[in-house]
Amino acid sequence: MTQSKAPVIAVDGPGGSGKGTITQMLARKLGWHLLDSGALYRLTALAAIRQGVALNDEAGLVRVAATLDVAFEPTGEGHPVKVVLAGEDVTSEIRTETCGDNASKVAVIQPVRDALLQRQRDFRQLPGLVADGRDMGTVVFPDAPVKIFLTASAEERARRRYNQLKQAGVDVNIEPLLEEIRVRDDRDMNRSAAPLKPADDAQVIDSTGLSIEEVLDRCMAAAGQA
Ligand code: DC
Repeated sequence: MTQSKAPVIAVDGPGGSGKGTITQMLARKLGWHLLDSGALYRLTALAAIRQGVALNDEAGLVRVAATLDVAFEPTGEGHPVKVVLAGEDVTSEIRTETCGDNASKVAVIQPVRDALLQRQRDFRQLPGLVADGRDMGTVVFPDAPVKIFLTASAEERARRRYNQLKQAGVDVNIEPLLEEIRVRDDRDMNRSAAPLKPADDAQVIDSTGLSIEEVLDRCMAAAGQA
């Protein structure tokens, strides 16, 4: 089997739908590679800010995306990988709400998406790849044998984020989180460049009210076709 034919499970969906957790679990269970494509957009935004490139400077952002000096280093438990940008561990920094919001702004720019395309496809290696994102099944791996669109209501996603932050000792209100989720959904779904939508051949799984184990079971059942 050639490298380009390694199977891919594409998992797309809005932020907070549980994609991150589920794709990590799937990849671990199957012993496959994992692509966290959102991290690449987050890293582009972070690297741009560090290099003094404005988030509306298209040419500058394309240069940053094309020359991202990033390594995803496996670790033991906890974070599945350590994310290293230009030699610095930015694993936690790229997870902030601000970085996610900046990533969403950078991600509307088609030339930035083009600059990150091949880097994402390079993750497709044997024995297989679990790809987490917004356009895995529609743009990056349109020939993926399994496509899952994982979703959940905005209220449920806000609740999950609220619980995560509370557990981490961060004092927040749920209303602003819900508003942020709505704004980001709107930007991700209504942009002209690779808008967030299920591929025609995707299986839609709504995780509202389901436990992680239940969602994983449904995804594994879908992955049985990989
Ligand atoms: O999944 P995430 O929250 O890490 O993604 C951060 C932002 O990056 C998200 O708001 C939209 C964008 N993104 C994208 O446009 N395409 C992807 N494949 C992954 C993320």
